Amino acid sequence: MALRKVLIEGDPLLHKASREVLEITDRIRALVGDMWETMYAANGVGLAAPQVGVLRRVVVIDATKPEGDPEDEPTGLADPPPRAGGDAAPAPEIIKYVLINPEIIEVSEETVSAKEGCLSVPGMVGIVERPARVKVRALDMSGEPFEIEGEGLLAKALSHEIDHLDGILYTDIAESVEEVNAE
Ligand code: NI
Repeated sequence: MALRKVLIEGDPLLHKASREVLEITDRIRALVGDMWETMYAANGVGLAAPQVGVLRRVVVIDATKPEGDPEDEPTGLADPPPRAGGDAAPAPEIIKYVLINPEIIEVSEETVSAKEGCLSVPGMVGIVERPARVKVRALDMSGEPFEIEGEGLLAKALSHEIDHLDGILYTDIAESVEEVNAE
């Protein structure tokens, strides 16, 4: 595995639509490995292939906790996220996915406006309105289809990363964007 360079806002590749993956080749497997490494090195929650300059519909997400755990082996399909009961903090289960050709197939009517950042927009944070819950269909690393339903951080990450595959950055749709450290 190797670190890849993360493209920064202003790079025209970030505004291009990515192509579907037709076959999960060694090249795609290497890309996914590099994406995990690159994401964890930057303390990211998710990363989309176009952010490392590869216009393919591939996303990695680790919404377990913001730090992630670089020691974990990447898995294609983790257990589904816990259904949070009330406002209790969700159990720290592993919420980690590789998504090949992900598609949002259902969104809640309810939306949430929350803080968002992006490894391609360093030093900035914005407020973005997103669906509170999303259902996504994707292929795992074996090419098997699966579905996940996310809420909270996972819903936000799914929407944000899938937007990247269509050339959309959160700054394109944010209610407001500001610098991180205003002190
Ligand atoms: Ni991003």
